Amino acid sequence: MLIQELHLHVDEQVTVKGWVVHHRSSGKIDFLVIRDGSGQVQTVVREPARTALAEVLTQAVQETSVVVEGRVGIDPRSPGGVEVVVEQIQLIGSGHDYPIGPKAHGVDFLMDHRHLWVRSARQSAILRIRAAIIRLARNFLDGHGFVVADPPIITPSFAEGSTSLFAIDYFGEPAYLSQSGQLYMEALAMALGKVYAFGPTFRAEKSKTRRHLSEFWMIEPEMAFCDFEENLWWQEQLIEAIVQGVLAECQVELATLERDLSHLQAVVRPFPRITYRQALEQLTAEGFELQFGDDLGAPHETALARAYDRPVFLTHFPTRLKAFYMQPDPRDPELALAADLLAPEGYGEIIGGSERIYDYELMRSRLVSQGLDEGQYAWYLDLRRFGTVPHSGFGVGLERLVAWIAGLDHVRETTPFPRTLTRLWP
Ligand code: 4AD
Ligand code: MG
Repeated sequence: MLIQELHLHVDEQVTVKGWVVHHRSSGKIDFLVIRDGSGQVQTVVREPARTALAEVLTQAVQETSVVVEGRVGIDPRSPGGVEVVVEQIQLIGSGHDYPIGPKAHGVDFLMDHRHLWVRSARQSAILRIRAAIIRLARNFLDGHGFVVADPPIITPSFAEGSTSLFAIDYFGEPAYLSQSGQLYMEALAMALGKVYAFGPTFRAEKSKTRRHLSEFWMIEPEMAFCDFEENLWWQEQLIEAIVQGVLAECQVELATLERDLSHLQAVVRPFPRITYRQALEQLTAEGFELQFGDDLGAPHETALARAYDRPVFLTHFPTRLKAFYMQPDPRDPELALAADLLAPEGYGEIIGGSERIYDYELMRSRLVSQGLDEGQYAWYLDLRRFGTVPHSGFGVGLERLVAWIAGLDHVRETTPFPRTLTRLWP
């Protein structure tokens, strides 16, 4: 019997299998809070069971695994509205000397014990929200005619800049872990129309920030016959569907995290937009020293997003700041038809996307001017040689999305086993 279903079985005899969260004795009663992954329930051990189970009860410390048999009773004070009156407890595995107690631990200590820390109520709530976000994103895309298609993870060339590559030895040839599936998704969009990738991506980021992981998951939709405007439209739809879906489905988890729901309730279309030039003006007025062509970092993103209660699109970046594949704005070719979606509350960029160059000559000259080896991208150029069409796509960083929706300080808690500049353990 799952703990989350106990309320449907009042007055029935049940068996609960789980772990002791907390054990206390008071007078003639023992209280054991048990969790099983689906929820938590308080179990009570009264006489005569208490005397019969005396030896077992001395062993039932935090994180002892147990099988508890008893009867479900109503308990209006408990979160699930029920308790279990215990008749039998079987010990499975000892919890003695469990390193994580109710007292506060430093984050390094907790990260070193991540394999155990995931058992805590807070971490479990985050991982459930992550799972809900994945489910909602897939449901949205599957339900809107996107075909999931998986790009390779081992790749011969780079997609997002040469400075953050993880190189591997591929049977004696150099290869890299994928930074983004985008280039392959472009090929697949020409076959299937609307496609998306959902998989791990890798960046050897030398940044120690609360937004950077070296391994993270990306949702990457790519659409044939899709321009810059329609690309933003898909992004708004997707993000609204995910946030409103989490609000509807994850009430318990959001409450566990004490998330301020008003910030999420505000996330409805349309999302405001500002151009890079407007952003420069606004930031200069706020005292930042910036010139056309300067990259905008986390403090700039936070300042720009502050004026809005929902995500904001930052658009029309200078071409030279952005990736080689981005379509120039026909009205001002110095600008790229690219947009970053910035989350509110200082969470910064959660999506990067653009219209792609589809003209063969322009793409070839971009590769050359960026010093890239044309031969390495021959297959990518073929997409422009044979039946090329305007197309666009974007990449949602799953961990940043989870951090924002769950209201976390750092992306390291958004993924089961984070990989960062300083962490490869456990
Ligand atoms: O802006 P990025 O680099 O865009 C791309 O890779 C495009 N090729 C995607 C596409 O158009 N298909 O990365 C996309 C998103 C960012 O907005 C951010 O949310 C996330 O991926 N991201 C990271 N998340 C965690 N750690 C990192 N080191 C990240 N780098 C990017
Ligand atoms: Mg980006």
